Amino acid sequence: MRISVIGAGYVGIVTAACLADRGIEVICSTHNEKNAQMINKGAAPFYEKDLEPMLKKAVKKGKLHCTTNREEAILNTDITFVTVGTPMRSDGSIDLSFIEQAAQEIGKALKNKREYQLIVVRSTVVPGTTRNLIGKKIEENGGKKLGESIGLCMQPEFLREGEAVNDTLNPDMIVIGELDKTSGDILESLQRKFYGEKCPTILRMNIESAEMVKYANNCFLATKISFANEIANICELVPRVDVKEVMKAIGFDHRINPKFLDAGAGWGGSCFAKDLNAMKAFSTNLGYKPKIITATLEVNEMQAKHIVELAEMKLGTLRDKRIALLGLSFKPNTDDMRDAPSIRISNNLVEKGATVVGYDPYATENAKKAIGEKISYAKSIDDCLKGADCAILVTEWDVFKDLKPIDFLKNMKQPILIDARRIYNPKEFSNKLQYIGIGMSNR
Ligand SMILES: NC(=O)c1ccc[n+]([C@@H]2O[C@H](COP(=O)([O-])OP(=O)(O)OC[C@H]3O[C@@H](n4cnc5c(N)ncnc54)[C@H](O)[C@@H]3O)[C@@H](O)[C@H]2O)c1
Repeated sequence: MRISVIGAGYVGIVTAACLADRGIEVICSTHNEKNAQMINKGAAPFYEKDLEPMLKKAVKKGKLHCTTNREEAILNTDITFVTVGTPMRSDGSIDLSFIEQAAQEIGKALKNKREYQLIVVRSTVVPGTTRNLIGKKIEENGGKKLGESIGLCMQPEFLREGEAVNDTLNPDMIVIGELDKTSGDILESLQRKFYGEKCPTILRMNIESAEMVKYANNCFLATKISFANEIANICELVPRVDVKEVMKAIGFDHRINPKFLDAGAGWGGSCFAKDLNAMKAFSTNLGYKPKIITATLEVNEMQAKHIVELAEMKLGTLRDKRIALLGLSFKPNTDDMRDAPSIRISNNLVEKGATVVGYDPYATENAKKAIGEKISYAKSIDDCLKGADCAILVTEWDVFKDLKPIDFLKNMKQPILIDARRIYNPKEFSNKLQYIGIGMSNR
């Protein structure tokens, strides 16, 4: 089976590189000539742990190449994965314009193909989109009927940025939403070939349920984090209670599980905000105003404000105070700045008159685009901390975990540290500097 991947972004390139690494021939398709050239040299257009060596190897072996010619990709492959972006519109609802365009292009290309083609939607789309928009556009533009020479599946993607390669190679489960048995059988056999003996549970269902699985999954994960942040905010008001101990304990309860229970600066990234907002808009449109999803979004928005309030608690007014942000990407091991908490925190700090300087080991260039010139960007940790009245640990990159109290003391004007990810030992740090940990009594 040869595979084409339409949309060479995070999901597209990681999927393509992993498939090619297992010997499957892959053609990536993008509109971006520059990205196509980079990929064909084995270089990823973004940073993602473990991706580039895999991509380089796949390109070198001739198993993967990227084209800007949609038809070339589709005519020379048997299965097409659709991985284009589904961003958020200004009203919170899902923007399906890229999906619609991709479906039209696939349809047009299929006009010239006799053999069967299976289309697999990997982008996150609200229930009904795969069948009613993508399927329809393919039929209209291809002059063919779904279920005859065209198969259709929706396979939600669960990878996490920063762990994308590992997650693709070791998923917890595979969900296949299928138009018909033939479509599902072909996709299942590809997955079984790819994973071999380590194939996880494959769940087959109809397309709309599979679309909903992805939203339910992301809404639940974001809710777990907002829940931990809510408990953290209560813990801060109670002497001696520490949210870290509390979350660790409840994580042992197998009904709860320890993942996604870290209180911190709030969640971010390309998916949570857009998917929760999309589900909220979708559901509201159907006549049900979701309460938990709305609260999850509100708690997350509040968390950035709360971190700034902690700085105010120590410093009084923030006007003309120099605040150092350690870490800007939305999480470690990626340079992705989409919806990063550092954006919200920076905006709140700047609004209050603070001078903000940020440092990130990988994301500075993307941060400049996302946050702009309202803050400045340091080239090293020392530069960032120099002369600061307060440091806020925003992203838990490994390089920050090695810092000792002396690293803050020797550089800062006032040694105030807000540990928004709880990576430091409170005892060690509070002995030497004014240490504020999220979720522990700081009074
Ligand atoms: N990034 C994640 O962690 C993640 C995880 C799970 C699911 N998803 C979902 O996967 C989808 C893709 O996400 P992403 O993060 O890879 O997005 P992305 O923005 O990184 O990549 C999307 C790519 O599609 C390209 N594109 C748009 N229209 C196109 C067309 N007609 N033909 C070819 N290319 C086209 C864009 O240029 C871009 O490179 C989204 O629906 C997202 O919700 C993302």
